[in-house]
Amino acid sequence: MGLLDGKKGLIFGIANDRSIALHVAKSFTAEGAVCGYAYMPGDKNLHRVKKALEAENLSDSGLMACDVCSDESLDATFAAARERFDSIDFLVHSVAYAERAHLKIGKFVDTPRDAFAQALDISAYSLLAMANRAKEMMPHGGSIMAMTYYGSQKVIPGYNVMGVAKAALEAITRYLAVELGPRGIRVNTISAGPLRTLSAMAVGGIEEMMEICTNKTPLGRNIEPGEVGKTAVYLASDLSSGVTGENIFVDAGYNIVGV
Ligand SMILES: NC(=O)c1ccc[n+]([C@@H]2O[C@H](COP(=O)([O-])OP(=O)(O)OC[C@H]3O[C@@H](n4cnc5c(N)ncnc54)[C@H](O)[C@@H]3O)[C@@H](O)[C@H]2O)c1
Repeated sequence: MGLLDGKKGLIFGIANDRSIALHVAKSFTAEGAVCGYAYMPGDKNLHRVKKALEAENLSDSGLMACDVCSDESLDATFAAARERFDSIDFLVHSVAYAERAHLKIGKFVDTPRDAFAQALDISAYSLLAMANRAKEMMPHGGSIMAMTYYGSQKVIPGYNVMGVAKAALEAITRYLAVELGPRGIRVNTISAGPLRTLSAMAVGGIEEMMEICTNKTPLGRNIEPGEVGKTAVYLASDLSSGVTGENIFVDAGYNIVGV
């Protein structure tokens, strides 16, 4: 018996074998879920996603290319998902982007308007856009979750505009939780500790940040990506049936420590 037996849904954000979304997909599949995957369009991206899924023995049938900046692309992806699944039980948002040039320590104040708008559009608004489409495919309720980071609440040097985008993402989660609650749809975020992924490597000072985190956490270590996957299983499963609008830290306790 798996915790997600009989559940099906969509996971956005696998780029390669390090992606948090891939670890969520692994955990979900191990618990009996059937997953559809949406990835950033492009032949190279498709190749990397297929390779990552294959390495984990995950099915790549029904892969959907989706640029979350585009309403047309989102419409097409959800139409394809409806074709395949009819209804869904979960949606995982594991998508973020900001230009590397604006993720440098001491350069937040220089962030130009277009880079700000792009980061907020891809990393925050996209959750709202996805939830609006997903709600029509969740007639019996469901679970929506998004990945966030502590830089939404405290200043993490170099995280810059992404911290602002994550603050928006967390606020969007609460507003969605209230509006979608009557439909039985729960909306939560997971705030993961730092992991060496493609996106994380764009953040200035990431290596130093990881070292500090590792030394400072109550558990005396950083997290494993699979630990995010396990919490995602909890949020997608009926074990969390009374939980919505929450931000759950999976950071080995880093956020509770002052000095
Ligand atoms: N790695 C970390 O340390 C860490 C910590 C906390 C939260 N997070 C969050 O986890 C999520 C996943 O990031 P990750 O670390 O696995 O890195 P990742 O680079 O593997 O994943 C980011 C994904 O966003 C996708 N993406 C970017 N722009 C897109 C667009 N326009 N349309 C569609 N997809 C687009 C990329 O293709 C990629 O799949 C992000 O929200 C990130 O902020 C990461």
